[in-house]
Amino acid sequence: GLRIGTAVAGGGHHLEQEYPDPFTADRAYRRVLAQQFSSASPENQMKWEFIHPGRHEYRFGPADAIVRFARQNGQAVRGHTLLWHSQNPAWLTEGTFTKAELRAILKDHILTVAGRYRGQIHQWDVANEIFDDNGAYRQENIFIRELGPGIVADAFRWAHRADPHAQLFLNDYGVDWPGAKVDAYEALARQLLADGVPLHGFASQAHLSTRYPAPDQLRTVLQRFDDLGLHTAITELDVRMDLPEGGVPTAEQLATQATYYTTVLDACLAVDGCNSFTIWGFTDRYSWVPHFFPAEGAATVMWDDFRRKPAYYALRDTL
Ligand code: XIL
Repeated sequence: GLRIGTAVAGGGHHLEQEYPDPFTADRAYRRVLAQQFSSASPENQMKWEFIHPGRHEYRFGPADAIVRFARQNGQAVRGHTLLWHSQNPAWLTEGTFTKAELRAILKDHILTVAGRYRGQIHQWDVANEIFDDNGAYRQENIFIRELGPGIVADAFRWAHRADPHAQLFLNDYGVDWPGAKVDAYEALARQLLADGVPLHGFASQAHLSTRYPAPDQLRTVLQRFDDLGLHTAITELDVRMDLPEGGVPTAEQLATQATYYTTVLDACLAVDGCNSFTIWGFTDRYSWVPHFFPAEGAATVMWDDFRRKPAYYALRDTL
C-alpha cells in the first residue's frame, strides 16, 4: 500500500527562464515519470499563485493535465497546497480585505480547488508550513495573521466537505528530528482530533542537506503521529550537498547521499501508517535546489540526463 511519488516539475520560478514546462515539453521526462512512480505531486501547479491568479479567476489547465496523466498511468495524486504563506498571488497579499472577506476568499478557494479534483486526490497538504522552527504560528501566513490559528481547523473542514475521500495532511520541513516544531504539530494534531476536525495525516517534507546529520530520529517522530491514529508520509524528499569546484560530486558524497535517502525510506517503512513516500523531483535537471541553496545541488536520484545515481539503486534495493 505504500505509494512512491515524485514532484511533477513545472511552473517554478527557477524553471521559467531556462526551460519550457518539462511536464509538457520533455518526452524523456514524461517516460520516467510514468514508469517509475505510483504517485505524483504538482510541484507548483496547484499553488495559489498558479491556480488562482485573479480574485475571480482560476486557471486549472496545468493541474488538470497532471491529474489526467496520473489517472492514465494508475498514479495517485498528492494535492499541494491549500493554506500556505508562500507563492500567494499579489491580489491576495497586497489587497485590502476585511476579515470576513478574507475568510470567504479562503473558503471559496478550498471548496473550488479541492472540489474540482474531488475523488481524484489521495492526499491533500491542507496546511503547509504553518509553524516556524520554534513552534510558533507563522505570522507571514496572511490567513493565520489576520484570522487567527483557528482558521487551520476551518481549512480542514472545508477541504473535507469538498473532497470527503481525500486524506487531509499537515505538512512541513524541519520536522525530521524531535524538537519544538514537532511538539507544536503534535499538540495541534491532538487538539484537532479532540475537536473532531477531519485531520488524517502528518507529513515531513524532508528537504535534507548532508551539511547536517542524517535524520536518524525520523522514525520516532513519525511514530508519535502514528500513535495518534494518523497516517504519515514523506512528501518532498531531496538530499542536497556542497558541490565541489567543477560541480561534480565525489563518489563518497554520492554514497553519503544514498544513506540519507534510505534512512528516510526505512523510517517510513518502519511505521505502519506511513503510506506515501515522495521525492521532490527525480532529476537534477529540473531540481529547485541550486536556485534556492547557493553552492548546493545534485539533490535528486538522477543526473540531468536521467542516469541513475547510487541513491536511486539504494532506494530500489530497500524496497
Ligand atoms: C518549491 C518548488 O520546488 C519551486 O519550483 C518553487 O519555485 C518554490 O517552491 N516546501 C514546499 C514546496 O512545500 O512547495 C516548495 O517547492 C519547496 C519547499
